[in-house]
Amino acid sequence: MATATAKKPDAGMPGRKHNIEAMRQEYYARIAKHDMAPLWTVMSTLIPDQPVTRCRPVIWHYDDVKSLVMESGSLITAEEAKRRVLILENPALRGEMRATNTLYAGIQMILPGEIARAHRHVSSAIRFVLDGKGAYTAVEGEKAFMSPGDFLITANWAPHDHGNTSDKPMLWLDVLDAPTINFFETSFGEDFDRPTQATARQDGDSLSLYGSGVLPDGTAVTNRTPVINYTYARTRPIIERMLQAGNVDKHHGARVRYANPITGGPILPTMGAQLAMLPKGFRGAPYRSTDGVIFACAEGQGTTTIDGEVLEWGPNDVFVVPPWKRYTHSAAEQSVLFSASDRPAQEALGIWREEK
Ligand SMILES: [Fe+2]
Repeated sequence: MATATAKKPDAGMPGRKHNIEAMRQEYYARIAKHDMAPLWTVMSTLIPDQPVTRCRPVIWHYDDVKSLVMESGSLITAEEAKRRVLILENPALRGEMRATNTLYAGIQMILPGEIARAHRHVSSAIRFVLDGKGAYTAVEGEKAFMSPGDFLITANWAPHDHGNTSDKPMLWLDVLDAPTINFFETSFGEDFDRPTQATARQDGDSLSLYGSGVLPDGTAVTNRTPVINYTYARTRPIIERMLQAGNVDKHHGARVRYANPITGGPILPTMGAQLAMLPKGFRGAPYRSTDGVIFACAEGQGTTTIDGEVLEWGPNDVFVVPPWKRYTHSAAEQSVLFSASDRPAQEALGIWREEK
């Protein structure tokens, strides 16, 4: 019986103190064969005192990005590529197809006459239009024609296709929650037989129906917005009005968050987005939060300083502020910044924090 033969901890272990490290290593090696490991050697990694991120601050300047993306147009067609996109990879996460730990970002281009075939996937996508005018994204039967500054939603499993009926290339920033979906190992995707969707609704239908302070009677509550395109033409005047009224947050400027008009909540359960106008000469107060943020400059010029590192941005530049890194915005001229992050997912889980 074990009780009859039990020994005191140190009994029968001469030289224990001297041998303890060797004994531990031998023990760790032995339990490893049983797919086990000691918590006490990794405790501070599993539960650090402060959020730890692998992400680094990074900026992609549009001058470089545009010429490199344009070059891809002569190397591969949209049809061959399925999606002609250059991924914006965080330099600390190369090969992982992500800009932050939880979000993918890419620059997509559709040339005149091209289409990107209809498909759907569990990963939700948001798009911020950078360049061009007149190409469309069709989502769930609504063909939304895009202009710079427009913010579009392709929610979980929503059928979508893109096409360019204009005479200029169209480029936009894609942000997907794919790393989050893949973390849960829940990704599905499928292509449709037809290259494009039948579009039963008119451009602007969803914004008109759901984004005007009224709702179609009987509208069901959903955890994602029914609006396909939050146009810049509608949103920019709102932040300009806030700026003129002096409604300027000392960290973020005159900022709105894109909302699900049915619930007032975020546009998607996994991702949220904002649009901010910074007045000329703005010098923001330091701020940090636990969501890593992808910014895109729609207008203007300025800098964002992240833990002492200065990123200088201008129109269509995209940059990343990693989680829990203290940052400040400064604007040399009146500027507009779009931002997207996983904040809604963190809030739903009760783990989002900020420090002002
Ligand atoms: Fe897609």
